[in-house]
Amino acid sequence: MKKHKLVVGNWKMNGIIPEASIMVEKLKQEIGDVKKVEIVLCPPFVDLYTVEESIFETNIKLGAQNIFWEEQGPFTGEISPLMLKGLCDYVIVGHSERRIHLGETDKEIAKKVAAVIRHDLIPILCVGDTLQDFSEGFSKGAVLSQLQAGLHLLTAEEVGIIVIAYEPVWAIGTGKSCSVKKAEEMIRAIKHTIGELYGVEAMKKVRVLYGGSVKSKNSNEYIEDENIDGVLVGGASVDHHEFAKIIKGAEKHSIAK
Ligand code: PGA
Repeated sequence: MKKHKLVVGNWKMNGIIPEASIMVEKLKQEIGDVKKVEIVLCPPFVDLYTVEESIFETNIKLGAQNIFWEEQGPFTGEISPLMLKGLCDYVIVGHSERRIHLGETDKEIAKKVAAVIRHDLIPILCVGDTLQDFSEGFSKGAVLSQLQAGLHLLTAEEVGIIVIAYEPVWAIGTGKSCSVKKAEEMIRAIKHTIGELYGVEAMKKVRVLYGGSVKSKNSNEYIEDENIDGVLVGGASVDHHEFAKIIKGAEKHSIAK
């Protein structure tokens, strides 16, 4: 089992600048001194500096929600890994909302993952099956193919550093979370595939999270599972009260193990 559970809050397109610092201040007050959980907040790009100031001297880390693979140049509207280096620790890559609404392909996602890691940031690579995959019994096939495509530009050592988030598309923002049993099964399959392709060391080091309708009511079930290294929380992470409960639950369960 990994030392600390990882709890990531993906604010998505929520949180205008004044709200961002208020949200973090309230979260800090509620969580108090958390030592056993690694906490990452991923606000929209425009909120990164505000959140960075608010988390100064806390153990909360900062993540971005997306990236472009080039360092600089004529790529209007894009943000490069060089711009995030030193500001963030993590970058979410390949979220299903970007795959679906912005047409991000596996090929682009692989380039983003590689760019992130080569600038000393940690990618959180999202993979997930759609409702159609699920009803056709193709969930594992879909997830493992996204996984392999997303990792294929990395070395075994780099694979060991990254975070994978298993997020069934049918569970995101729907209130229909995936059962712990199914999530754990998929996470085991992800780790097994990494072991086969990149070796035991990479498999032992890589962290795999569950995401999709995680709330304070169900988060501990995932956290308690020793194969699930943490959770990626969307909607519930913009509610400081809910998110604090999730973090405190994770803290408790990390101590218990
Ligand atoms: P949700 O989103 O928690 O709102 O379902 C999770 C995510 O998209 O990362």
